Amino acid sequence: MKKFSVVIAGGGSTYTPGIVMMLLDNLDRFPLRTLKLYDNDGERQAMLGDALDIVMREKAPDIEFSFTTDPEEAFTDVDFCFAHIRTGKYEMREKDEKIPLKHGVLGQETCGPGGIAYGMRSIGDMIEMIDLMEKYSPDCWMLNYSNPAAIVAEACRVLRPNSKVLNICDMPVGTLRRISHIIDKEPQDLEVRYFGLNHFGWWTSIKDKEGNEYLPAIRDYVAENGYLTQKEVDTQHTDASWQDTHKKAKDLLAVDPRFLPNTYLKYYLYPDYVVEHSNPDHTRANEVIAGREKTVFSMAKTIIKNGTSEGCEFEMGAHATFVVDLARAIAFNTHERMLLIVENNGTIANFDDDAMVEVPCIVGSNGPEPLSQGKIPEFQRALMYQQVTVEKLVVEAYIEGSYQKLWQALTLSKTVPSAKVAKEILDDLIEANKGYWPELH
Ligand code: NAD
Ligand code: G6P
Ligand code: MN
Repeated sequence: MKKFSVVIAGGGSTYTPGIVMMLLDNLDRFPLRTLKLYDNDGERQAMLGDALDIVMREKAPDIEFSFTTDPEEAFTDVDFCFAHIRTGKYEMREKDEKIPLKHGVLGQETCGPGGIAYGMRSIGDMIEMIDLMEKYSPDCWMLNYSNPAAIVAEACRVLRPNSKVLNICDMPVGTLRRISHIIDKEPQDLEVRYFGLNHFGWWTSIKDKEGNEYLPAIRDYVAENGYLTQKEVDTQHTDASWQDTHKKAKDLLAVDPRFLPNTYLKYYLYPDYVVEHSNPDHTRANEVIAGREKTVFSMAKTIIKNGTSEGCEFEMGAHATFVVDLARAIAFNTHERMLLIVENNGTIANFDDDAMVEVPCIVGSNGPEPLSQGKIPEFQRALMYQQVTVEKLVVEAYIEGSYQKLWQALTLSKTVPSAKVAKEILDDLIEANKGYWPELH
C-alpha cells in the first residue's frame, strides 16, 4: 500500500494530538511515511511537538516525524495538509465573544458578529497558506477545519477557485454519533440526506444500508431530549455548555418537526435565549482555556517530563475521525459518503448556484461529487439566503476593504437587531482587530 506524507497546519492546536493518535490508530487503512506539524507560534508548537515526538518514537518509529515554523520545510513533499489554524488564537476568540455581548448581541466563535470578525481575520492567513502549499507541493490536498468554515469556504471559492481545498465541519459527525446511539446503530451503518450551510443545516433522512428510514423514531426522541444521550458517545462536545446546546435541539426541532436540526441553529432561532444564558465576563473561550487547552497542554508537559507517553493517552474525537476518513477516501478512491462544504451548482435545486452549501458528497480521488438534495422548503431557503448573503458580504468587504459592506453584513445577520447596533459593534470590532483585518474605508 502507498504511504503518505501529511502536514498538520495549526500544529499547536488543541486538536493536533487527537488527530495524531487517530492517524496512528489507522495506519493499516491510511499508511504514513512522514508526519509534520506546522505552526507560526514556535513556543506553542514546541510544547505539543516535543510530546508528540516521544509518542511517535514509541508507537511508530518508522514514520519520519518533525515540527517546524518554516513554511518551506512544512509544505515540501506533502500529500495532505490537515489545516486547523486560529488566527489571533483564544485571545481574539474571547474578544469576538465578549464585544457583541456588550451590545446585547450573542457572542459566538462562528455565528453572528463574532464569526464575522473571525472570518475577517482568517481569510488572509488561509489564502497565504494555500499559496504556500501549492508552491511547495502542487498536488497536495488541503482538508480544512479552520473556522469560520463557511466564510473561509466562500473566500476559497472566490479567491482560489481551482485549489485543492476541502472545507469541513465535525458538528454533523459528532451529532450523527448521538443519532446512531439513539437508534442503537453505528454511524458507519447510516446514510443521511442533509442540506444547509455550514453550522446551518437539517437532516431530511437517516437510513440504514437496507433502506430503512429512522428519522421518525429519532424525531420522537429529539422532541423529548434533544440530542442528549444516556451514554456519552462523542468525547468532544461534552462540557456543560455543550450539553445545554444538545438539549436545546428539542426547541429547534419544534420550529420544523419534519427535519433534524444542526445544533448551531440555536444561535439564529433563539438568539435571545443565548444572550440571556451568557455571562459577558466568562464566555466559551474562557471555558476552553481552562478546559481543553489546559488538559491537552498539561498532558503534553507530563509526557515531556516523564520522557514517555506510557499512562498518558491523548483523546481522539469526531474531529479526528472525520479528517482521517476523508484523507483515506481521497487517497484510496473509496467513494465514501460524507458531508462537505461545496459550491451548490444545483445540488439544492432551488438555491443559488454560487452558494457554498453543506451537503452529502461521494468522495474519491478526484474530490467530492455532491449528491442532489432536491428542492427545499421556503422557510429554510429564506433563512439560508439571508445567512449566505452575510457570508458573501464579509468576503466582499475583505477583498474591497469596504466598511459599508461589512456594516451591511452585520446588519443582515439574523443575530443583530438593527443597523445602529450593527455599526456600534463594527466600530468596536475594528478597534479590537487592528493588525488582523485589512484597513476598511
Ligand atoms: P488553537 O488556538 O488551540 O489552535 C490553533 C493553532 O493555530 C495555534 O497553535 C496557532 O498558533 C496556530 N496558528 C494561527 N495562525 C496560524 C497561521 N497563520 N499559520 C500556522 N499556524 C497558525 O485552536 P483550536 O481550538 O484547537 O482550534 C483550531 C481551529 O480549528 C480553529 O479555527 C477552530 O475554529 C477550528 N475547528 C473547526 C472545526 C470545524 O468543525 N470546522 C471543529 C473544531 C475546531
Ligand atoms: C464544533 C464545531 C466547530 C467549532 C467547535 C467549537 O465542533 O463544528 O466548528 O469550532 O465546535 O468547540 P469549542 O469546544 O472550542 O467551543
Ligand atoms: Mn464546525
